[in-house]
Amino acid sequence: MLGAQWGDEGKGKAIDQLAAHSDWAVRFQGGNNAGHTIVIGDTTLKLHLLPSGITAPNCKLVLGCGMVVDPWVLDQELERWHALTGEQPEGQRLFISERAAVILPFHRLYDAADTLVGTTGRGIGPTYRDRTERVGLRFVDLSHVVDDVGAIRVIADRMNKQLGTVGVEGTIDPGQLQSEISWVIGRFSDAIRPTGPMLDKALREGEEILLEGAQGAMLDIDQGTYPFVTSSITGRANATHGAGIHPGHIEQCFGISKAYTTRVGNGPFPTELALDEGPGRQMSEMGNEFGTTTGRPRRTGWLDLVALGGSQRINGHTGMVITKLDVLGGMDELKLCVSYKLDGNETQSVPASCEDLARCSPVYETHPGFPTLSPEEWIDLADESRQGGGFDVLPKTIRSYLTRIEEAIGVPVVSVGVGPDRRASIASSDGPFDIHLGEATF
Ligand code: GDP
Ligand code: IMO
Ligand code: MG
Repeated sequence: MLGAQWGDEGKGKAIDQLAAHSDWAVRFQGGNNAGHTIVIGDTTLKLHLLPSGITAPNCKLVLGCGMVVDPWVLDQELERWHALTGEQPEGQRLFISERAAVILPFHRLYDAADTLVGTTGRGIGPTYRDRTERVGLRFVDLSHVVDDVGAIRVIADRMNKQLGTVGVEGTIDPGQLQSEISWVIGRFSDAIRPTGPMLDKALREGEEILLEGAQGAMLDIDQGTYPFVTSSITGRANATHGAGIHPGHIEQCFGISKAYTTRVGNGPFPTELALDEGPGRQMSEMGNEFGTTTGRPRRTGWLDLVALGGSQRINGHTGMVITKLDVLGGMDELKLCVSYKLDGNETQSVPASCEDLARCSPVYETHPGFPTLSPEEWIDLADESRQGGGFDVLPKTIRSYLTRIEEAIGVPVVSVGVGPDRRASIASSDGPFDIHLGEATF
């Protein structure tokens, strides 16, 4: 399940819907910059590190080798889960790759110096940088350094020099670093495992694995709107690699997109609308567009088919999940960006340079709107679709909007979100989302 935009497309909800039919749910990149929301009746879960498959009691969970993991955030998230359900999954059905990189307090402090990108401030970029520079610590490395006072001093010295260069207040004390590392080992030693070989074995035994992306294609370090991107490869090419298995295992690849576009943080956004009036305001208010991780308002705009085409190029989705269609209800007309105009020329690809992208103006196609329904009415319609109606329950205007998206990307839409609740989705008949929703853990 891969975000096809700038993140927050509804990956958490879609993974929750599929989880009861899977043996494993695996996060393969990113860290707690992610915020994945699941709504089941009166309960809303906001997950940052735990895979969204946690809602299915029999689904085993992995924080894969491609991730950067903040052990203190994981600890808090597990405490919240324990308070909600009584379950302590760590070491039982939740495993952390021994190869995953550890986010330490230094990384959070260093990230605080960012003024360009508008990062989530969670230490993601600095941790990936340390890994690439081969000076970072993975979970497997912790027990090798914890008693080595000399090595800890070298690490702390390097961290303090780096903090000095970006003018961030705060220093790393070697003794404290040592006790922090020691705490991580004690807290998570049962859960730290060779998860790549474990998943490989599970596949050989015929088990099913869901790979849960974080962020989205336009935030990809290589293919996104650099430098206004995250620090990992968010796409299909890394989905198996970041889980420690090979790409030949992928049978289906779902791309997920809102029926419009949002972006949180800095960087160009060709279809951006004003947040305080008109359709941009409706998207923001009805879509409750505030970052799940940082609470920042998300910027809003019309659906950008040029960007989605780029996501399709790199990820080869086999089906698209379109979410938050309900949010567009009641608008007179809907716009779809079908190309960009740059210096008088029309283009259908996203320029590599952010300066160029910022100068692109969107070329729109206009489609008729559709009426608003209440959240309950949308859920009733979704229930009706599950009784065999599929997309036939949707009004014609919505179906033609979806058909236009399918034509532009060249991939079928397999599920349409019409509300935050796990039941508020309409799936195509006999498609991969045409399944019963499993019992949840709570
Ligand atoms: P993720 O990061 O991709 O998992 O997405 P987030 O959870 O950060 O953001 C998606 C937001 O939209 C969450 O608040 C979801 O509860 C909500 N959501 C997901 N699908 C739908 C939908 O179809 N309609 C509406 N109205 N909200 C949705
Ligand atoms: P999910 O998984 C939306 C954005 C940040 C910033 C840029 C870099 O919930 O879709 P980082 O902290 O990663 O170095 O920040 O990426 N960003 C996200 N935006 N959803 C996310 O995750 C994001 N994770 C990072 O706002 O612009
Ligand atoms: Mg999110």
